[in-house]
Parts: sequence; C-alpha cells; structure tokens
Amino acid sequence: MEKISPASWVVSAGRSRRPGEPLNVAPVLASNFYLPSERVYSRGDGTTTAEALEELIGGLEGGVALAFSSGMAAVAAVLHRLPVGATLAVPEDPYHGVAGLCAEGEELGRWTVLRLDLADTEAWVQAAQTADLLWLESPANPLITVADLPAICGAPRRAGTLVAVDSTFATPLVQKPLELGADIVMHSATKFIGGHSDLLGGLLVSRRVELFDELAERRKLTGAIIGGLEAFLATRGARTLALRIERAQHNAMVLAERLEAHPEISRVRYPGLPSHDTHEAAKRFMSGFGAMMSFETTGTGERAGAVCERAELINHATSLGGIESTMERRAVIPGQETIPPTLIRFSVGCEDVEDLWNDLSQALEATRA
Ligand SMILES: Cc1ncc(COP(=O)(O)O)c(C=O)c1O
Repeated sequence: MEKISPASWVVSAGRSRRPGEPLNVAPVLASNFYLPSERVYSRGDGTTTAEALEELIGGLEGGVALAFSSGMAAVAAVLHRLPVGATLAVPEDPYHGVAGLCAEGEELGRWTVLRLDLADTEAWVQAAQTADLLWLESPANPLITVADLPAICGAPRRAGTLVAVDSTFATPLVQKPLELGADIVMHSATKFIGGHSDLLGGLLVSRRVELFDELAERRKLTGAIIGGLEAFLATRGARTLALRIERAQHNAMVLAERLEAHPEISRVRYPGLPSHDTHEAAKRFMSGFGAMMSFETTGTGERAGAVCERAELINHATSLGGIESTMERRAVIPGQETIPPTLIRFSVGCEDVEDLWNDLSQALEATRA
C-alpha cells in the first residue's frame, strides 16, 4: 500500500486482517499459554493485544514500540539501565514522578543529576558531551515549555550518550522526536493515546535494535508489561487520536486567545500564543501546539483553587489528555512549590468550545474579589 497519513494509520494499524478474525484484536487476558509454543508466559512474551498497540504507536513514531504498565514504568526502564555512577541530565521541573526517581537514585548514590533549564538549548547541547542520558520532556509540565528538540537531539554527542524524549503532551501526531535524532520516545499512554481516563499505560519507541532488546528484557525482568485489558482500551482509544487532537488543539487555541484577553487572567502559557517564551521553537518543528496550557488567575492561590472548584463542565482532576477537559491548580502538588501559586494547568478536551468558554467565564466571575 502507498504510505498513508497518520490519521489513516491510527484507524487501520494493529488489525490482523485475517478472514474470520475480529476487526479489533481481542483483549487477551492471559498469563499462561499451551505448550509447545513460542508464546509461553505473557510477562516476557507479551500478548497479541499489546502487540496491536505497539504496532500502532511504533508506526506513528517511526520506530519499534514496547508497551508498559504505566508511563512511570516506561521511564523507570530507561533510567534503571544506566550504570552506577552515570550522569543524567533532566529538566529543572520534570513531571514530578520523574523528579522523584531522579532524586531517589541520587540519594542512593546511583547517579549524578544535572538539572537544566529546558529553554537553555546551549546547556543541553553541552550536556550531550558529558552526560550518559539526556532526559527531555517537551512540551513540559506544567509551564508548557517547548525544548528546541531539533537542536538538542541533533547535537554532536559523546559516544554512548542517549537522548530520550517524554513526548506525552505532544502525542505522536504533533512531533516526532526519533526523526529529529532522539534514541527513545516515551509516552504516558494514560493520557492522550488512551484518551478516556480509563487506563494506565506507557510506551517506549526506538529505532535501535540493541536498545529495544535491552528495554524489552528490562520490561520482562521487572514485570512492567501492559495488561491485556489496558492494551485493548489504549488501542481502541488511539483509533480516534487524530480526531480528538484536531478538535482539542482547535479548542485550546481559541481558549488561550480569549483567556489572554480576560481581565481576571494575569498570564497564559500556550505554545500557540506568540507571547509564549518558546512559541518560535514550537512553530519550527511541531505540526500543531497540542491541547495543554496553563494560566494564572489574578488574586490568590485560594482564588485559583476556587475557580477549579466552581467549574461545572471542566472536570477538577489531576490527569490530562482525556476527551473531557480537566484542570487543576499545580502548586498544591508536593514538590511543585516553585510553581506560581495561582497557576492552573488546563487539559483542553473535545467539548464544544463555547460551552468551555462559558464555564471558564462563570467560574472566573463567581470567584471575583
Ligand atoms: C509528562 C508526563 N510524563 C509521565 C507521566 C507518568 O505517566 P503515568 O501516570 O502513566 O505513569 C505523566 C503523568 O501525569 C506525565 O504527565
């Protein structure tokens, strides 16, 4: 077949196409398989359900994918392959689970952590000459900073240095880190890929066979494979990824512009806005600006919290990437005390944009001093 677009790929990949079989690979809820067989035990050998998801996401990213039980299980597989004494470069404010793993390894004397400003491209380019792993997150949690991935992933490196990108906020439809020179792309499938807030899952994608084999072995040893039901739900959710992203990105742009002009809002951070610090970088290599933004209300942190509570359509919840909009004040998360107290992270969903705007407007009005 001619090369098809990503929007067609998400609909069509990961199907058996064998006569008599169901269109959707069924959820294989099994640990054990009859012998003799190449598939013996699902912790090491996987399931056809996980493979359907891996084919779908691997094809989108342009590599080979491994599905994990959560995003954090996928992160841990990458971090824990580092030898004792390694140096690891991470953003100053990565996803707090990643920050926690890094700090724990540091306390145990496993590795040295360099914490770099994501927007300081030169610092990352230099770290590529000294660190064993560059762990990037872009766009990043919760300031929605976009790293200059072409410059960092394409920079000359010391032999053996790996570059991994947590691309959860972008999804495989909005940026392709492997094409820019990264070795590993990571996704929390819990978010946009699954898209319905009903599963935990993670993915690693790579083009490097030896690295893939090593990560697969790690997944087997640590028992971190995705469950059959979760893999089924993630594949089913990913079928509408292109539709959901198109709609959610459109909604996000409209809402970001309106919020920026609202007198009760002091700052909006969305890479699609020319006022965003990393708008120029985003424009260069992303095919859109994603559906994640953050904004700061005027007044106190308590007021920002009240806005989240007064919303009726937008869900007051921590996770993101669902078909439904969610928002949360981030400074209340342990370890996130450096985040501005009135900052609300907003995952824009697929509801009607006017309804979302009316909901934000009434919550801002109801909490006005
Ligand atoms: C950017 C990012 N990376 C990784 C994770 C961890 O994923 P999971 O919750 O699926 O373990 C999250 C979860 O919120 C996230 O937002």
